[in-house]
Amino acid sequence: MDVSPFPYQGPLLPEQVEVRTELVADLIERVSERRVTALIGPRRFGKTTVLRKVAADVIAASTTVVWVDLYEVSSMADLTIRLDESLARITGRGSELIRSLAAAASLNLGLVRVDLKGPAASRPDPVALLHTQFDVLTTLAERTGVLFVVDEFSSIDRVDGAAGLMRTHLQHHFQQMGIVFAGSEPSMMTTLFTDEAQPFYAQADLVEIDPFTDEEVVAVVQSGFRRTKRKAGPLPSHIAALANGHPQRTMQLADTCWRLVDVGDAATFETWEHGLDRTRSAVSNGLERLYSGMQSGEKDVLRVTANGGSIFGASADLLDLANGTARNAANRLLDRGHLRRDGKRYALVDPLFADWIRTRMPI
Ligand SMILES: Nc1ncnc2c1ncn2[C@@H]1O[C@H](COP(=O)(O)OP(=O)(O)OP(=O)(O)O)[C@@H](O)[C@H]1O
Ligand SMILES: [Mg+2]
Repeated sequence: MDVSPFPYQGPLLPEQVEVRTELVADLIERVSERRVTALIGPRRFGKTTVLRKVAADVIAASTTVVWVDLYEVSSMADLTIRLDESLARITGRGSELIRSLAAAASLNLGLVRVDLKGPAASRPDPVALLHTQFDVLTTLAERTGVLFVVDEFSSIDRVDGAAGLMRTHLQHHFQQMGIVFAGSEPSMMTTLFTDEAQPFYAQADLVEIDPFTDEEVVAVVQSGFRRTKRKAGPLPSHIAALANGHPQRTMQLADTCWRLVDVGDAATFETWEHGLDRTRSAVSNGLERLYSGMQSGEKDVLRVTANGGSIFGASADLLDLANGTARNAANRLLDRGHLRRDGKRYALVDPLFADWIRTRMPI
């Protein structure tokens, strides 16, 4: 049994990344020019994948990468554990250096989790640990090229004082290391860098990760079929039309269809119909739960938008959706990453959610 060329759970390996070459090149240039960058985009749009590719490319050029994932970080102790694990994971050029710097600072690399679970009397202070860890990180950057990646940065907002502490240490080293923040709650990520009250106010260039273009969807689908000795037939254009540039949904639809085609065979229109049916059944329970948890104004906005209408237009009238309600609901949906702006209009981020709504509740 072949391995599917369309993995759709979790980030891809660097060698699996075929598109987004311009974004990768732009990020590498930013890193090398020491322009602090925040990569922003909806969930499942490929932020981590792109950054992994950037990391692999700069590692190949002898840069040391320190990668910390702040997903749902909930306390200073949690943060110091994440940073400890990141520092302990460093490979290549910086790995010996980090070990000697940590030893000199009496930091037990890789053991902070254990230390923090020890008897209360001997437990280290997480904030003091964080200061030491950032000192070690910035000293490392003075000695060798470092790229510091902070994935899921928006979660930092959950820990009082954490963004301030991080900024205090990093601000004097913006020239010495490459720094990229990435995050997926668009409104929170933007707020962290554009609200004057925030420690990182105006400290980074915001770069948005776009949906795939239709050409990119077609290229990804065709290449996966070709590499596994199958023909994609009419699939690429059907997938492009439905997936609306959503990277993970593109891969999921392609994977489901690919499983219906044997080696040496070509996909047909029936493959597409069958694959679409299977994908719809796989996601419908989850989407139903998601929809039923929405407030009524949000449901109406989603319905109108999924069906291609304007939230201030005729189909909104049909649902008795008042302008004020529509505006507030749309803002909440934008904040939570369910809607995105597509030119002047709104679009649902998830094309399968849009498809589910259209199929169940056409207007
Ligand atoms: N460059 C790419 N080529 C092909 N597929 C991609 C690419 N980038 C992302 N994908 C698809 O999208 C999925 C999600 O990618 P990834 O985890 O990098 O996104 P993310 O934006 O970091 O998501 P999250 O918000 O969950 O952190 C991957 O499993 C893959 O199916
Ligand atoms: Mg990610």
